[in-house]
Amino acid sequence: MLRNLILGITNRPTVRRLATGRAGRVVARRFVAGETIDDALGVVRGLNERGMTASLDYLGENVHDSAAAVAAAGTYRSALEQISTARLRANLSVKLTQMGLELDPEVALGNAALVAARAAEADTTVTLDMEDHRFTELTVDTCLRLAHRYPDRLGVAVQAYLYRTPGDVERLIGGRVQVRLCKGAYRESRAIAYTHKDDVDRAYAKLLVRLLESDAYPMIATHDARLIEFARKQVSKLGRGLDTFEFQMLYGVRRDLQDELVREGYRVRVYVPFGSEWYPYFMRRIAERPANVKFFLRQLISR
Ligand code: FDA
Repeated sequence: MLRNLILGITNRPTVRRLATGRAGRVVARRFVAGETIDDALGVVRGLNERGMTASLDYLGENVHDSAAAVAAAGTYRSALEQISTARLRANLSVKLTQMGLELDPEVALGNAALVAARAAEADTTVTLDMEDHRFTELTVDTCLRLAHRYPDRLGVAVQAYLYRTPGDVERLIGGRVQVRLCKGAYRESRAIAYTHKDDVDRAYAKLLVRLLESDAYPMIATHDARLIEFARKQVSKLGRGLDTFEFQMLYGVRRDLQDELVREGYRVRVYVPFGSEWYPYFMRRIAERPANVKFFLRQLISR
């Protein structure tokens, strides 16, 4: 699979050098709001004007020093201040490895709790992103602990491609956590994950039905038009109110579909990444679609 191939070479120094050069920066701007909070807030303002909410992601992952983890939590807290002051409609998306998960899970819990506390004061929510399989259990566990401390303020992403996810979804529904259902963006082995698109899509549809039948708040994170249509049919079959779930998409992907859903009265939230550590995020976006690889290579050749 092209995706696995690209994700497999992401850490090679030559690939990194090429992708973070001028051509890479041009392509990355399609998916990343910019390097500063101001860049991100400008994008959020535009989304709010288009009738959408946003989820701000301060880029950075696999942080290995505690000062950097504390600083990342500080950036999230300042972003919350500014969101409140400017009365923007946005929440946060946070990676626990940026909060120090690889140093010590308790450090990550502490930093994430500082962010969640400020989010609660600002009357908004925090969703924990889901990273690769080494962190799945810790992320679900940390989220459940935070949700206990900050009820109705926590959400977490789950990945349909992992075989374990149906069990995690049951735990999260029981813990009153908002669940963001996505397909999964990392390179995982077939011992633990579906690796064929059809199997992932089938798993996604099953999890979606389970979430829509529950009293959880599902966050349907996909650009897959077939799954979105399936979700719409399920919602109308179950008679679910349009304010009891939301669709989520990534900044720079299927803007047409985002607008169409808003016009039809659905809640739409756009995931808005910002910051200087955009490389791993950018490579995951490139790997998702052969057309992105071609576009990137064209930029590279033309410069
Ligand atoms: P699929 O890959 O089948 O794409 C369907 C269609 O969408 C494509 O045909 C194309 O039109 C469009 N499309 C998809 N990706 C594109 C791209 N990069 N560029 C251009 N067009 C594209 N993953 C994870 O592991 N942990 C997480 O925490 C999150 N969080 C998250 C939040 C939100 C809001 C979204 C939307 C997604 C995530 N993801 C994620 C990523 C997710 O797992 C998945 O990799 C991508 O969403 C792509 O899968 P689709 O569901 O869009 O389907």
